[in-house]
Amino acid sequence: AMAAERSLVMATCTAPVNIAVIKYWGKRDTDLILPINSSLSVTLHQDQLKTTTTAAASRDFTEDRLWLNGKEADVGHPRVQACLREVRRLARKRRGGGEDTAALSLSYKIHIASENNFPTAAGLASSAAGYACLVSALARLYGLEEELSEVARRGSGSACRSMFGGFVQWQRGERPDGTDSLALQVAPETHWPELRILVLVVSGEKKPVGSTAGMQTSVETSPLLKHRAEAVVPERLAQMMRHIRDRDFEGFGQLAMRDSNQFHATCLDTFPPIFYLTDLSRHIIALAHRYNGHHGHTKVAYTFDAGPNAVIFALADTVAEFVEVLRRSFPPAANGDQFVRGLPVSPAVLPQELVAAVVAEPVPGAVQYILHTKPGPGPQLVDDPSQHLLGPDGLP
Ligand code: DP6
Repeated sequence: AMAAERSLVMATCTAPVNIAVIKYWGKRDTDLILPINSSLSVTLHQDQLKTTTTAAASRDFTEDRLWLNGKEADVGHPRVQACLREVRRLARKRRGGGEDTAALSLSYKIHIASENNFPTAAGLASSAAGYACLVSALARLYGLEEELSEVARRGSGSACRSMFGGFVQWQRGERPDGTDSLALQVAPETHWPELRILVLVVSGEKKPVGSTAGMQTSVETSPLLKHRAEAVVPERLAQMMRHIRDRDFEGFGQLAMRDSNQFHATCLDTFPPIFYLTDLSRHIIALAHRYNGHHGHTKVAYTFDAGPNAVIFALADTVAEFVEVLRRSFPPAANGDQFVRGLPVSPAVLPQELVAAVVAEPVPGAVQYILHTKPGPGPQLVDDPSQHLLGPDGLP
């Protein structure tokens, strides 16, 4: 075959981070990563947060290899292997159809290099973007064109939602083999142009219990989680879809806050309990409620995942004022680092009565920086060969 003469084939993709507004917490099948409830997320813009992955295949490679942020990592990780196996299986199935004989040999070993455009140490959920990017790059390498959220799901549950832009539902599915446990786009990123997201990267927190282990303990011990999955989420999911359809920030924001709070309540209901919210998280929660209370409606909404960073949703016309509230509440350490990063934020002067009603005793340095972003598109192919993370020798 013609392509067998090509010694090195390479593909590079980027993929986004997503933040759930109806949370996924709990698996009914830990091997296939099938959830106990459907979930819904917003895909964040890749200008601010993205993973880039290059996958290469060559006759000359002697083993599969993986590099994460420039350092060699374990390619034998079961979830990496699951993704590789599934992509290769789909590629083989496709070849079985007889077409595309020029495509690259499935027996070739693979090199993969992946990096984030944000500090991994910041504790921003990177596994969703990472696995979505891995699967996208491999799919491109093998010329697969089908929808691959089912494969990304095998890397990390939340990764299946990073296979689409905008507003994305992961439907739990019914089948034991997981073939109906897929991500679906609810609305594209252009649907709600005023929506903004502030990621509050907090300082100096130790690594909490990972979500994989944490949710398993919750499934085994929390009656509240069972009730949530059976009775609460189905109704909330339908409601959230309506709020998004109607661009109803009041409804969207309130439900996002309630769902984050219930997720953290199931963590407290887990035995032994898991704590992801910290004193600082509670401080931010109270601040958001005082701010909304002062304005008499929902202007900002918080959500927290299995880590200490806070994510705030707001409409564009609220960002400047709320960022100033954050600056007053968490005065940045004077180390010259940019406190506000990402999309520009205009300066704002706070009315004295707002400060009096909303800003409590300041906690200097508690928030390291704020990343200002918005909803964005799904995985992208990178055409420019100079952007590959692997050189012509197949090494980083
Ligand atoms: C709290 O997708 O990281 O962020 O499927 O075990 O890899 P695994 O878990 P993961 O869990 C994410 C949990 C969450 C909520 C969410 O993103 O929906």
